Amino acid sequence: MSGAALAPDWLDAPGDLDAIDPRWWPDTARRDDDGCLCIGGVRVTELAARFGTPLYVIDWATITAQATAIRDAFTRALADVGSAVTVYYAGKALLTSEIVRCMRDLGLSLDVASGGELAVAVAAGMPPARIGMHGNDKSYAELRAAVAIGVGTIVIDSLDEIDLLVAAIGDRAAETGERPARQRVRLRVTTGVHASTHEYLATATEDQKFGVALADVDEAVARIRSHPELEFVGLHSHIGSQIFDHAGFDAAIDRLMAVHARLSRIAPVPELNLGGGFGIAYTEADSPRPIEEIAHGVAARLARAARAQGVPVPRIAIEPGRSIVGRAGVTLYETGTVKDVRLGDGVERVRRYVSVDGGMSDNPRPELYGAEYQVSLASRGSTAAPALVRVVGRHCESGDIVVQADWLPDDVHRGDLLAVADTGAYCFSLSSNYNMTPRPAMVAVADGKARLLVHGETIETLLARDAGIAGRIQREGDA
Ligand SMILES: Cc1ncc(COP(=O)(O)O)c(C=O)c1O
Repeated sequence: MSGAALAPDWLDAPGDLDAIDPRWWPDTARRDDDGCLCIGGVRVTELAARFGTPLYVIDWATITAQATAIRDAFTRALADVGSAVTVYYAGKALLTSEIVRCMRDLGLSLDVASGGELAVAVAAGMPPARIGMHGNDKSYAELRAAVAIGVGTIVIDSLDEIDLLVAAIGDRAAETGERPARQRVRLRVTTGVHASTHEYLATATEDQKFGVALADVDEAVARIRSHPELEFVGLHSHIGSQIFDHAGFDAAIDRLMAVHARLSRIAPVPELNLGGGFGIAYTEADSPRPIEEIAHGVAARLARAARAQGVPVPRIAIEPGRSIVGRAGVTLYETGTVKDVRLGDGVERVRRYVSVDGGMSDNPRPELYGAEYQVSLASRGSTAAPALVRVVGRHCESGDIVVQADWLPDDVHRGDLLAVADTGAYCFSLSSNYNMTPRPAMVAVADGKARLLVHGETIETLLARDAGIAGRIQREGDA
């Protein structure tokens, strides 16, 4: 077994290299008799031949199952405490028109974070009343668009934004000559609870760009309530991402409910938005608790806090993104150079670098957050011994790492297809054209069929954006 000394602590010794671990592979991932990986009943060799690589592959069964499971877990848990939930899918995780329609048809609402995401939501047919819009610096134009569309709720992020929104509503009314409907708004607050994987730490003050501090909430809500065109429906909080249990939510709920109760004594506050952040397992190192347990924990804490404050249990909203789409996504790459690099650290150690035809332009999370992923040989089975590898991209950065460490068969070679698991969330959304790299296509797979969700870019797509080149082509065409 080569390279074992370089394996990180959390990486299990290799067992069956062909095994498909359901913790990070999509529900429908299987191997054919020849060892080829199939997702949604489609062989990855067929996908690569038809759509090229790199390729984002989305297992529709997993997306549907995850959205349904989260919706149902929270619906049941809140019903048990006499309340209800609105589930907003956080579109920032992965947004295409088909995904919006899928969420709509499952009864979910949609959280958008920009005018662009709002445009996709509307074009895809999400009812405007089911759209929530947040963002720390929404422009006047974005607020105007949201008001014109009739977006259900706008999450106000600063005192300054109250005036901007009121101006947008007034200008719209002046233009149409219609009396504006009251705009439902929430207020984003920073609770001082920082949730991360296994821990949360509470601080008295927050040093980040989102929302207003708890100490400023009363003034902000009073201002909102002073405007008849605004309807204050509740507080909004998002404590972080990759949260594995309900401890962080418990701490946030206690703080939020104290303020919620104070505001309720002035006028009714029907809702409380707890944001998203439910974690998923990318590797052995991650152990998220089941969503039912988190939902019940949240509901129980909410009921307890409401009792303690002497107010009714509010309706809650949640905004899951990663937990719905993360495990549904797999990225397919073609293997290029395979090299054994002598580490030159005095001990005879060699790390195998396996290069693939993508990298940080289709998934910058390893560079941004040190994110870890799991990889598998996808185009064939192999009986070769396991070798510890580092999968790297083809970009001009030494930090362009796709998978820090995992086991692949020792005979992996140029032309093999590799599949990286758990790439449904924040990969396509964060992709770039670094090194003038065209961004990959995205396909959905289900019931033995693949359908294109997003066209891949080509070099021509990129050249067309360069005004000098596009202009020259145009002029030559005109001549
Ligand atoms: C306000 C808000 N809601 C929801 C989400 C979704 O988080 P996740 O994808 O971790 O569930 C985010 C992500 O950062 C967010 O900022």
